[in-house]
Amino acid sequence: MGYPQQMNTAIIGLQWGDEGKGKLVDLLSEDHEFIVRFQGGANAGHTIVVDDKKYKLHLIPSGILRPQKKCVISNGVVVDPKILVNEIKNLPENHARIYLSDRAHVILPEHIEKENKLTHLGTTKKGIGPAYTDKVSRSGIRFCDKKWVEYFDSDIVRFLSPYICDTRLLLQEALEKKESILFEGAQATMLDIDHGTYPYVTSSNTSIGGLYTGTGIRPRDLKIIGVAKAYTTRVGAGPFPTEDTGKAGIHMQEVGQEFGTTTGRKRRCGWFDSVGVKYSSQINGIDEIALTKLDVLSGLNDLYICINYLLNGKQKTIPSNLEDLQNCIPVYTQIAGWHEDISNVKTFNDLPFNVRKYVDLLEELVKAPITYIGVGAGRDKIIKRC
Ligand code: IMP
Repeated sequence: MGYPQQMNTAIIGLQWGDEGKGKLVDLLSEDHEFIVRFQGGANAGHTIVVDDKKYKLHLIPSGILRPQKKCVISNGVVVDPKILVNEIKNLPENHARIYLSDRAHVILPEHIEKENKLTHLGTTKKGIGPAYTDKVSRSGIRFCDKKWVEYFDSDIVRFLSPYICDTRLLLQEALEKKESILFEGAQATMLDIDHGTYPYVTSSNTSIGGLYTGTGIRPRDLKIIGVAKAYTTRVGAGPFPTEDTGKAGIHMQEVGQEFGTTTGRKRRCGWFDSVGVKYSSQINGIDEIALTKLDVLSGLNDLYICINYLLNGKQKTIPSNLEDLQNCIPVYTQIAGWHEDISNVKTFNDLPFNVRKYVDLLEELVKAPITYIGVGAGRDKIIKRC
């Protein structure tokens, strides 16, 4: 006995984060009853504008701003109680219901202190790495452990306690009742602790495997949507083969407003890397791609797409060894750009010829259908391409 077709959806980043996953989650949350964060912590972040009011979210799933939705922070997430309390307090009155896993690990003040002493990886300083380190070394503290209350003011403990529950059970029951679940990935595949550009990665499994360990459920009908920007960005240190520090990179940075939501840092920018996106698409077994921020490329005469990596003259996919990755030379194909403003276009066929050509070429290179195309910042600036 199966569930109805495509009841559940996972949104996973295919680059180094900040692909615009929050906006897609916000859009798709309308069709799902539960929205679940399953890994990472307050290192993630996005801003959502509803009725002219800006909400900055780091821990609570982006679906929260739709009334009546159920939002789950499951066991794979590491949670800073102070940040969560502030986020909940800033929500509008009719906010959705929030459930916090009793198996989620608590970020303690000492985790943040520890991380402030480590500088070389360019982390977000939210205590993520040290909290996951304690989890794996079996000395961490979870919300089900009585000890967590000793580390925080009794206000904080009293406020959060009603939200803590067994979220695995809640989600299992949702599956059985055929209630649909939207899984919101944070960070992205190239920052995955196993499959990313180690050690310049985050401390969790950001790719699809993290969904299963991070929730304790196995949704049968699951559509996996990989999200990729029409170009590439990266915050923090680490290899970035298609980085462009020249005029085009500055254009992407300025037009795309590429500043980190969590740290305010400028994001490094560069060309679309089809080698990287294909690698991430395979790891996640994606069904389709949402291509975001295509409008940012308007105004560039020529566009470049990385189609291959060469290492010592030989073609290579993403190498495991960091030095090898740093020594890879990206091979580009050049394609004509466009100057039209595409932000008001509603259908794929109404996009200018060069834009369609760019999208079609990416699709061919990555070998996955591009079904959503982001052409602007607003909730309605997404073209659905069937
Ligand atoms: P951490 O997750 O704070 O340990 O940082 C590890 C690396 O992941 C750093 O390079 C961060 O800049 C990067 N990172 C963490 N969260 C995000 C995110 O949400 N978007 C983009 N980069 C992120």
